[in-house]
Amino acid sequence: EGQENPPSASWSFAGPFGKFDRGAVQRGLKVYKEVCSNCHSLQYVAFRNLAEPGGPGYSTAQAASFAAEYKIKDGPNDAGEMFERPGRPADYFPSPFPNEQAARASNGGAAPPDLSLIAKARSYKRGFPWFLVDFFTQFQEQGPNYVNALLQGYEETPPHGVTIPDGSYYNKYFPGHAIKMPSPLSDGQVTFDDGSPATVKQYAHDVATFLMWTAEPHMEARKRLGYQVFIFLIIFAGLMYFTKKRVWAAAH
Ligand code: HEM
Repeated sequence: EGQENPPSASWSFAGPFGKFDRGAVQRGLKVYKEVCSNCHSLQYVAFRNLAEPGGPGYSTAQAASFAAEYKIKDGPNDAGEMFERPGRPADYFPSPFPNEQAARASNGGAAPPDLSLIAKARSYKRGFPWFLVDFFTQFQEQGPNYVNALLQGYEETPPHGVTIPDGSYYNKYFPGHAIKMPSPLSDGQVTFDDGSPATVKQYAHDVATFLMWTAEPHMEARKRLGYQVFIFLIIFAGLMYFTKKRVWAAAH
């Protein structure tokens, strides 16, 4: 029996003029930091990226002080010892486990995947007419729809007749339904300072937005270039039309 398709959520970054909602990216970063980072790495994202245009919109100083809250393993020093130091903008998010074996051992045999590109790494097939929507949006909303749904897709009691092995949890949207990630979010777990609701629904949507940004940090620039090219082509087509009329005008 196949899994349910995730419902389509509404995203600020959808469509040809879509942009990341800065507040949502910042809140999603907080959810990642306080919850997901206990198990999932984010190894392709550096602290300096948090201050790059098209992202959460932090200043260089804010990104540096965010980095300084982390302890980073470094070394060896002159005495040949490994040591820890506060994070710097050039550092990448530290991983929760030293290696994949350790990650598996702590999670019932399933390694929590790195989340840097997860929003581009999960997709699903839908029938007509949704297939057309997916096709014209280049499937770009599927990853965030899936992450958003997965985090809200846990059910205490599986449907009648479905058994879930020990150490796995029933999730409506996980392929095969038995996932080794326990439901990570609960209401009130993370506090936002902008007054956004402290609900699983809000956390899931915000962290999915954040992970869409980590997966495609240059999306805003890409879309801007795209519609500039369109405007150029329309003007250029007009110019070529009048040029053609001139060049091929009957000679007198
Ligand atoms: C898998 C997201 C928190 C442990 C996953 C997957 C995603 C995800 C997208 C991939 C599912 C798939 O393969 O399709 C998140 C987010 C979190 C979070 C956004 C924070 C809100 C956690 C926490 C733990 C954890 C706190 C550990 C207690 C795992 C494990 C898997 C996994 C073990 C592999 C599951 C399997 O393959 O059966 N997570 N996760 N996650 N996560 Fe998380």
